[in-house]
Amino acid sequence: MLQRCRRENIKIYTMPKKAGAKSAKAGQPVKAKKRINKAKPVKISSEPKAKSSRRFSRLRGMRDVLPEEYKYWDLVIKKATELARAYDFKTVKTPILESLELYNKSTGKDTDIVAKEMYSFIDKNGDKVALRPELTPSLVRAYIEHGMFNLPQPVKFFTLGPIFRHEKPQAGRYRQSYQFDIEIFGEENPVADFLIILIAYNFFRELQIDVQIQINNIGCQECRPEYIQKLVEYYKARGNRSKLCNDCKKRFTRNPLRLLDCKEAGCLELREEAPQVVDYLCDNCREYFIKVLEYLDELDIPYSLNPYLVRGLDYYNRTVFEVWPIEEEENETSISQQGALGGGGRYDGLVEHMGGRPTPACGLAIGVERTILKIKEKNIPLKKDTANLIFIAQLGDQARRKVIIIFEELRRAGYRVRQAFTKNSLKAQLEEANRIGAKFSLILGQKEVMDETILIRDMDSGIQEVVDFKKARAEIDKRLANGD
Ligand code: HAM
Repeated sequence: MLQRCRRENIKIYTMPKKAGAKSAKAGQPVKAKKRINKAKPVKISSEPKAKSSRRFSRLRGMRDVLPEEYKYWDLVIKKATELARAYDFKTVKTPILESLELYNKSTGKDTDIVAKEMYSFIDKNGDKVALRPELTPSLVRAYIEHGMFNLPQPVKFFTLGPIFRHEKPQAGRYRQSYQFDIEIFGEENPVADFLIILIAYNFFRELQIDVQIQINNIGCQECRPEYIQKLVEYYKARGNRSKLCNDCKKRFTRNPLRLLDCKEAGCLELREEAPQVVDYLCDNCREYFIKVLEYLDELDIPYSLNPYLVRGLDYYNRTVFEVWPIEEEENETSISQQGALGGGGRYDGLVEHMGGRPTPACGLAIGVERTILKIKEKNIPLKKDTANLIFIAQLGDQARRKVIIIFEELRRAGYRVRQAFTKNSLKAQLEEANRIGAKFSLILGQKEVMDETILIRDMDSGIQEVVDFKKARAEIDKRLANGD
């Protein structure tokens, strides 16, 4: 036993041998015998020495979600799932790790997300891989890889999971964050764009967060080139280009559209006179844009046209939008500086660009952490789901054994039971029952075990009633049905 333990590097303590005990059998290593007698731990060669032990901290920009916060997550995940179901989106899960090339080709290798923020590395096979910086590319890959163009269209996906971006951490901006994401594949009707905006709006409204939709239309393959041409001419003229920030100087050659959403003061000033994309939309895109806006008007969804909104990803065409929280400041409303809560748009060329059949598509992603920050910031009360909670308490070991069985029976039968089996004091157990908002407690002590009865204590009034054990279930049902 000792030898096996040593081989497996397990630290064991053994008692000293009693006087007169038999000596070790022949063949047993002498060293081991010595250790047994001295009752010393068997040292492990690979075990870290006490001196070098260190406390680990989470990585910068990464967060732990502890129970106190998880109740907000619960709420947000429930709302996202409920809406996705209501609008008939099917849940999918894709891997967190994908090939690097997937993002180079879809999100765009010159975008900030891919060029500056992506966690990419070479794995043990020598393959270039990346932790997903967004969910859309994986969903597009899955749609193509599983031949979903053969299914009745549109195909509607819902997913919720982590993304990774090596950004400068600050409130609401993390290196690992979660997105609630929906995508519609195979639908070119503007009502699909409206539908995803409606879901975003409903999500926030039902979580009591006031938001405004900012929307733009960035044209299509037909009309955008002419607009880009005009934009480039504008920035070239009058030496404007030299006034751009360093990032924008690069964007000027790689993706001039992105000059419009730079937040640097000098670039903001320059763009004021820049040509606007809506003035260059082809008839189809203009008509399309108007239809989306008409649907929004129809449902009174507050939006504002933002001619500078282009979004930082390569794949969009036509509709792009973002959801911004509205801040209430003493009789004034303004748009938050903390960042968008969500964003999305149409990407009709991406599925084909990624090797699939031509498939119109649009989608949306909402940041879970930013949503939770807003709920907390606004002190939006969480509804406690304490309806019909039954607490089961025990006094003494015999009662505890019985209570464990009762608890399991009731739980399996669908009752909402709670317990504190590890506690001995009845007072402590009843405090716990009050803390969680139990409707009543079932209490079993030595006497009740002997008499085959159980105490039912109403947690509001404190009134206790002794009930014959055989009739307990009927009494529980009566109290739950009465709402007593
Ligand atoms: P996105 O605008 O990059 O779009 O991200 C959507 C939302 O994710 C943001 O509005 C924000 O709430 C949240 N988010 C992004 N990065 C972080 C971060 N570092 N920390 C905390 N929250 C963050 C997309 O990702 C697109 N895939 C959306 C889409 C879906 N377009 C079409 N379909």
